[in-house]
Amino acid sequence: MHADSWALKAKKLGFRSRAIFKLEEILIKTKALKKNSFVLDIGSAPGGWSELVKALNPSSHVYAIDLLPMDPIQDVMFFQKDVKEIDEIREISLLKSKFNLVISDLAPNLTGIRAVDEENIFELNITTLNTATNYLDKSSGSFIIKTFQNSLLKELRIEMEKCFHLVQTYKPAASKSKSGEIYLYGERPL
Ligand SMILES: C[S@@+](CC[C@H](N)C(=O)[O-])C[C@H]1O[C@@H](n2cnc3c(N)ncnc32)[C@H](O)[C@@H]1O
Repeated sequence: MHADSWALKAKKLGFRSRAIFKLEEILIKTKALKKNSFVLDIGSAPGGWSELVKALNPSSHVYAIDLLPMDPIQDVMFFQKDVKEIDEIREISLLKSKFNLVISDLAPNLTGIRAVDEENIFELNITTLNTATNYLDKSSGSFIIKTFQNSLLKELRIEMEKCFHLVQTYKPAASKSKSGEIYLYGERPL
């Protein structure tokens, strides 16, 4: 399906972004979203992923963070902050080691200089990975992170493998094949 068709489908279903279909496919394949889960959505604006989690599992407790503002979603706790400062958010820091699922759709601003962009993406991905390992439940936590196919992807996967028992790579159908987006999944923190 063309990217615009995914956007149209999301709109028709009442969701804020077409990114929901990418997350939905991974959640179905991994069964990572369970009832009553505590879910941390990093890079959440405009809010599609948070909306999807609440739609699939209304009993989940969703905490969302983004640099940008986000229009409210019922029963989603949103904080406008840089992920690097997440420990300063009292409501979230009280839940260290308690989250069942951490999802990250973070994307840094691109400079157009490939080496710089790849380094910035990698650095942000590592910050997010460290955040996930701090906040996930050690026995049952799962992590989904969007990243990009570039020269540092292999290194990121190696870092993921140091942190989780199981690591898998996903390229959902709704992700434009040309976009270079790719998703890593980690299960059961080490
Ligand atoms: C692709 S969008 C997320 C879309 C969202 N998953 C959805 O379904 O609506 C990526 C987001 O990452 C956010 N972002 C980038 N760097 C960030 C950082 N350091 N801390 C928090 N959010 C950040 C951007 O502001 C942007 O809103």
